[in-house]
Amino acid sequence: MTAAPSDFVFVHSNRRVVHGWGAIEKLKDLAAEAGSRKAAIVLDGFFLSQPIAAKVAELLALPGGTADLIGVPTHEPDTDTIEACRARLAASKADLIVALGGGSAMDTAKIARMLLSNPGPVEGIAGFGKKLAPHASLLICVPTTAGTGSEVSESAIAGKVGSDVKLIFRSQDMTPHVALLDPELTVSCPARVTAQSGYDAITHAVEAYVSKMSGPMTDPFAVSAFTLLARWLPVAYAEPTHRAARAWCLIASTQAAIAFNSANLGLAHAFAAPLGALHHVPHGLGNALALPVVTAFNAPVLGEKGEAIAHAFGARSAAEAMAKSRHAVGLDLSLDEFVPDAAAREAVAQAASRSGQVRMNPRLAGIDDMRAMLEAMRKPTGDAAPDFAR
Ligand SMILES: NC(=O)c1ccc[n+]([C@@H]2O[C@H](COP(=O)([O-])OP(=O)(O)OC[C@H]3O[C@@H](n4cnc5c(N)ncnc54)[C@H](O)[C@@H]3O)[C@@H](O)[C@H]2O)c1
Ligand SMILES: [Fe+2]
Repeated sequence: MTAAPSDFVFVHSNRRVVHGWGAIEKLKDLAAEAGSRKAAIVLDGFFLSQPIAAKVAELLALPGGTADLIGVPTHEPDTDTIEACRARLAASKADLIVALGGGSAMDTAKIARMLLSNPGPVEGIAGFGKKLAPHASLLICVPTTAGTGSEVSESAIAGKVGSDVKLIFRSQDMTPHVALLDPELTVSCPARVTAQSGYDAITHAVEAYVSKMSGPMTDPFAVSAFTLLARWLPVAYAEPTHRAARAWCLIASTQAAIAFNSANLGLAHAFAAPLGALHHVPHGLGNALALPVVTAFNAPVLGEKGEAIAHAFGARSAAEAMAKSRHAVGLDLSLDEFVPDAAAREAVAQAASRSGQVRMNPRLAGIDDMRAMLEAMRKPTGDAAPDFAR
């Protein structure tokens, strides 16, 4: 980087990150330090039947009563599942809320908690920059995927029941007070979940790095994140119990979110939202379908940053790097497997072009560019850069 930083930027820093193998034990100290009296644990339904549920409940048996375990569905949240969680949290009257799970469980807890101090319905608090009333409870997020970075971000995403819309919630009051990173909790992730959530983290790092809002306070987190993921995601995918791989992927995914929380995201996320809402493509897979082609589209404006991305992944170009890294974790698929025809692609193009993330992307894309990118996403790429230029 040669020029002196000159742009005026806002950086939203997260509050506290605790990490380490077995860090879950720290819940007890964190609750005691905060003087918490009653805990509610919002956890992904998968973990309800696992020993970790009883363990966390035991760690959080506080003077005000035993902890309430609130299981949430193992799929991405929607307005109904959030309302159900809100009702359970309201009944619990907890002053400590712990969210344990992937992005779905953490986002559910983050949104439901805001509904304890703001009137509903759920969609009423959606949107950017809304002035929301903070809730007094302490919020600790414990990710079990590496991952969305929801444990440090001020945003959350949920589907609107009865529609094809993905609602985005964004408020600094939604930022968790503590991100508790225990890589042991990610070891049970099936390969598919490791791949999809890991590629989401790669997309966060790369899109934050090249975003129009990137800068010297976010770039180091983004570079560290994609450099670590380039090395360790394929290892975690191939060897689920590899401790170093699990630990570094989790740290990297949190770093990527620290970067995107201020620098924002780009076109791959603009595509991932309608792919999820209209065609039920999981979030990380939507990014994997889009990012190599998006990076090829961005190539003419990436400059030194493109070279840095290519270098980190041992590739000849940033677009090749994104193709290789998805191929390595089994996500090199054709868009046609999910989006059946030209009319469906057109609907995705229209929805993606309305996303606010289009404006954060380093190169402005018009609707014809969006259509061309979707057309290019129909072809798997193997280890090669997509055959795409505009
Ligand atoms: N808030 C943010 O900043 C942000 C950023 C990106 C994505 N998201 C959202 O996060 C969601 C995706 O989250 P995700 O990728 O973490 O997946 P997820 O939370 O949807 O979980 C995927 C699947 O993996 C299972 N799972 C999770 N952890 C596991 C573990 N350790 N062992 C075994 N199974 C496990 C879950 O039960 C589920 O079936 C989407 O809704 C997306 O929109 C939020
Ligand atoms: Fe994401």
